[in-house]
Amino acid sequence: MTDLANATTAPTAPADSAQMAPDEAPVRAPEGSERPVRLLIVGTGGMARAHAEKFGAIPGVSLVAGIDTNPERLKAFNDTHGIPQGFASVQEALAWGEFDAVTNVTPDAVHYGTTLPFLAAGKHVMCEKPLAANYAHAAEMAQAASLAGVVNMVNLTYRNVPALNEAARLVQEGAIGEVRHFEASYLQSWLTQPAWGEWSESPTWLWRLSKSHGSMGVLGDVGVHILDFATFAAGSIPTNVSCRLATFDKAEGGRIGEYVLDANDSAVMHLRLANGATGVVHASRYASGHLNDLSLRIYGTKGGLEVLGNNEKSVLRGSLGEDMLSGTWRDLPAPSVLTNYQRFIAAIRAGTPALPDFARGAALQKVLDQAVASDEARSLDMPV
Ligand SMILES: NC(=O)c1ccc[n+]([C@@H]2O[C@H](COP(=O)([O-])OP(=O)(O)OC[C@H]3O[C@@H](n4cnc5c(N)ncnc54)[C@H](O)[C@@H]3O)[C@@H](O)[C@H]2O)c1
Repeated sequence: MTDLANATTAPTAPADSAQMAPDEAPVRAPEGSERPVRLLIVGTGGMARAHAEKFGAIPGVSLVAGIDTNPERLKAFNDTHGIPQGFASVQEALAWGEFDAVTNVTPDAVHYGTTLPFLAAGKHVMCEKPLAANYAHAAEMAQAASLAGVVNMVNLTYRNVPALNEAARLVQEGAIGEVRHFEASYLQSWLTQPAWGEWSESPTWLWRLSKSHGSMGVLGDVGVHILDFATFAAGSIPTNVSCRLATFDKAEGGRIGEYVLDANDSAVMHLRLANGATGVVHASRYASGHLNDLSLRIYGTKGGLEVLGNNEKSVLRGSLGEDMLSGTWRDLPAPSVLTNYQRFIAAIRAGTPALPDFARGAALQKVLDQAVASDEARSLDMPV
């Protein structure tokens, strides 16, 4: 699956929607597990298309309604995906009430206000990443989800990548020994090339560049993905972060219309994990030549692993056991995995929790908040 495949209308694709590896597990559900689930989609912009296609392909799932504050976008989206109901607000949809679950694909700052009412009404919720615009809101959402006892999930899309899951499994079973060191990056270049359309002309890109529109810059947009990626594989959570952020001039007067372009474009984090490992995680929108590339290199006392991926494919490589002696790296097999979308629906049907949940989303948000605080304090080391 390519990034463009997720766009409402090419070429304005959402920045981080690629799956890296296209080999998703077959959608077929086990016999008897196709209990109907009625799904409501909140926010019908760029990334919502991926949600409509992925959820719509799961047997027994009906896309029953959409919500958007932009009526034209809502109508076009509902027409494209055959969705019968459309609402202008969460309150209208709740008054109607004929749905079981919600997927929230609104801009980052809107997640908090549009998710809490659904949780209070006992609806299962998948929410896009980052869970909220700050840790206080994310923690409140995690607590509300826990109190509601509903399935709650953050759409950290790279959990769909087989190579990442296999790397995490290998680390957990001790294949590389004790984890000591890692480096991870998420590289994009949509500010230096128009592969996904002209950033300066589309709200989809402009809100991502503006703090007052709730963006935490590249750190919150794709930094959260690579932070999850690295720490999920390492099997440990950060205890400390030190960070440097950079925001570059890109328009006259630093603004385009209502959008003040003050959110960070490059982020470099230095982390210590609870398991004692240290590593760097960085992300940029100025990585010219890289459209949407992720990499993780992780090393332990008994070997090393690499997960490398772009819009086309992902690979897992390892240097394990005897191979370490000669510095030999080999491609390793990675079994296919269910997508977040499939696991969200399966959890609703089974009445079980699903990961990554809101608590994970809040934990990541705490690292992001502390990274911003670190940057403001000249990259001071901050406890998480
Ligand atoms: N997981 C991934 O790989 C991935 C990829 C891309 C985007 N995202 C996330 O998806 C979310 C949406 O991103 P996008 O690129 O689709 O943005 P977008 O700007 O293209 O679409 C957002 C839509 O939400 C609507 N909206 C705004 N406020 C609303 C409200 N109060 N109620 C209902 N609708 C409202 C807007 O009108 C717009 O149609 C963001 O949180 C982003 O970080 C995730």
